[in-house]
Amino acid sequence: MLSKIAVIGGGNIGGVLIQELVRRRLARTVALVDVKGPELAKGKCLDIAEGSPVISSDIKVEGSKEYDVIEGADMVINTAGVPRTTRPDGTLPTREELLATNLKITDAVSAGIQKFCKDAMVISIANPLDAIVYRLYQNLQPSRARLIGMAGVLDSARYRYFIAQEAGISVENVEAMVLGGHGDNMLPIRSACRIAGMPVEKFVSPEKLDAIEARTRKAGGEVVKLLGVGSAFVSPAWSALEMAEAIIFDKKKIMAVSALLEGEYGVNGLFIGVPAILGAGGMEKVIEMDLTDSEKEAFKKSVESVQKTKDEVIAMTK
Ligand code: LAC
Repeated sequence: MLSKIAVIGGGNIGGVLIQELVRRRLARTVALVDVKGPELAKGKCLDIAEGSPVISSDIKVEGSKEYDVIEGADMVINTAGVPRTTRPDGTLPTREELLATNLKITDAVSAGIQKFCKDAMVISIANPLDAIVYRLYQNLQPSRARLIGMAGVLDSARYRYFIAQEAGISVENVEAMVLGGHGDNMLPIRSACRIAGMPVEKFVSPEKLDAIEARTRKAGGEVVKLLGVGSAFVSPAWSALEMAEAIIFDKKKIMAVSALLEGEYGVNGLFIGVPAILGAGGMEKVIEMDLTDSEKEAFKKSVESVQKTKDEVIAMTK
């Protein structure tokens, strides 16, 4: 149990996060900051606090419009930003199209973290994922161990779910990794996908796997279209908590996270989804996976798109 975990942004993802943090008793104090009026964060926290006797929880939960509520947090989960929403003509913006708006929000978030809990471990969920994590890195200059983005756990969970459905086998038996940027050319790694230790191809045909991988790449958009307003929020929150728990309980668990590469995979200075060991030290080690030639090629393509959005961040914030 940590002393304090702060959630930034009280939208749908932030809302699930605070209730789960309290229910799972991951910190003695859970704090939520959201600048929205009249007192969104306070209201969401009061709702949970008033329910705490029913779940026998003495976890303190406090919300505010002011950043001082996150003072002294050991861990910050950042969700602040506008989500994707279907346009009136029925089309979807890409996550990258949120960049201009969410960069401004990220700069305010960075200032709050800098002022009130600059040594906190930071897990960021806002989109466009890899670019926002990069901006936090530029602003906060933490060690790479202390700042990671949540995307790969969610993308891998979606891949696992679709495979489990197709194979008619429990999700618990499906092990899979999705790497690369959190965009349309993310990379489900078929060569590393196993069902109870056996190659996935033993259970699912190559054609079906092609279709599942295409669906995985667009899975975020599929939910946005169905909801009409906003994006997926329960699965992203649970995925961030999977990362938080690995750190809080020093699990040394390998999962796909957006981490700063320093030469691994031949990439330098870019945040992108790769397998990493998460433990008490945060992102303790990037694992270099053996990829097939076509996977290497696809990873390169994904790196190029993430690099393009990083260049936009640099241009927009000059
Ligand atoms: C998604 C958003 C949260 O993939 O990025 O659903």
